[in-house]
Amino acid sequence: MTHKMDKQAQKPILILGGTGKTGSRVAHRLTQQGISVRIGSRKGTPSFDWNDSTNWKSLLQGVKATYITYYPDLASPGAAEAIRSFAKLAVENNVRRLVLLSGRGEEEAQRSEKALQDLGADWTILRSSWFAQNFSESFLLDPVLKGRLALPVDGVKEPFIDVEDIADVAAAVLTDNRHIGQIYELSGPRALTFAEAIEEIVKISGRKVHYTSISTEQFISELRQQGAPQDMILLMTELFTNVLDGRNSHVVSGVQHVLGRKASDFSDYATKAAATGVWDA
Ligand SMILES: NC(=O)c1ccc[n+]([C@@H]2O[C@H](COP(=O)([O-])OP(=O)(O)OC[C@H]3O[C@@H](n4cnc5c(N)ncnc54)[C@H](OP(=O)(O)O)[C@@H]3O)[C@@H](O)[C@H]2O)c1
Repeated sequence: MTHKMDKQAQKPILILGGTGKTGSRVAHRLTQQGISVRIGSRKGTPSFDWNDSTNWKSLLQGVKATYITYYPDLASPGAAEAIRSFAKLAVENNVRRLVLLSGRGEEEAQRSEKALQDLGADWTILRSSWFAQNFSESFLLDPVLKGRLALPVDGVKEPFIDVEDIADVAAAVLTDNRHIGQIYELSGPRALTFAEAIEEIVKISGRKVHYTSISTEQFISELRQQGAPQDMILLMTELFTNVLDGRNSHVVSGVQHVLGRKASDFSDYATKAAATGVWDA
C-alpha cells in the first residue's frame, strides 16, 4: 500500500503552457517542492501542440495531474473543442485530476469548463481576472514601450491580478485534493481603470505613457494597420468590448480563500516589474 502511494507521489504533474506566464511559475513552485513536472509546449519533448493531437497521449502517460492553460485564449475559436478532446483523452488514460485556468465572466471559457465537468474529471477551475503581467510580458508591453496605449475601454475598472498569485493558487490546488470540484474566482485586491494602471506604471517606472480611449472601429483599424491577423483582431475585440463591460469590476476573494493571505496589489507588481528593467528605454 505504502509502495503504491509512493509511486503515485513520484508521478509528474503535466503543465500545459509550461513555459508561459502562469505555467512557468507553477512549474517552478512544484519543482521547489520536489514534485516532478512535465512541460507541455511546442518546444517540449515530446512537443505539445493544441493544433495537433499526435503526441497528446504519450505526454499523458504516467502523469498524476494536469494544469491546463490554453493558447492563445479560451475565447478563441476551437478552444472548447480542443479542451474537450484533451480532457477526454486524459480521463481515458487515468489522468482524472485536471486544473483549468479560465477567465472570469467569459461565456466562451465556460464551454471549456463544462467539458471538464461533463467528463467526470476531478476538476478545479480557476477563473482569473486580467493579468497585471499583460503590461510587462504580453500584448500590452509593446504599447507601453511605444508610449501610447489605446483601447476601446473607457472608465471600466478591472481588478488586475499578479500571475505570481495565480501560480501560488494553482500549485496549492494541484497538490491538495480538497480543491476537487471547486470553482475559484481570482482577482487582485483593487480595481483600476486602464488609465489608472498606466498612471501607476508611469509613476513607478518614470516612463512616459499615455492612455487613450478609442472607439471599437478605430481599435480594429489600428490593429489592421499593425498587421494583426483577423482571428487576433476578433479575439481582442471580444475581450475588450464584451468581457470588459464592467461585469468583472468587483474584487473577489479566491486568493485569500485558497492561500489564507491577501492578493498582491498592482503597485507591488509594477514595482517588481520595473525592477526587472522591462520598461527601461
Ligand atoms: N491574459 C489574461 O489576462 C488572462 C486572464 C484570464 C485568463 N487567461 C487565460 O490564460 C490562458 C493563458 O495562460 P498563460 O498566460 O499562462 O499562457 P501564455 O503565457 O499565454 O502561453 C504561452 C504558453 O503556451 C505555449 N503555446 C503557445 N502556442 C501553443 C500551441 N499552439 N500549442 C500548445 N502550446 C502552445 C507556449 O509554449 P510554446 O511557444 O513552446 O508552444 C507557452 O508555454 C488562456 O487560456 C487565457 O484564456 C488569460
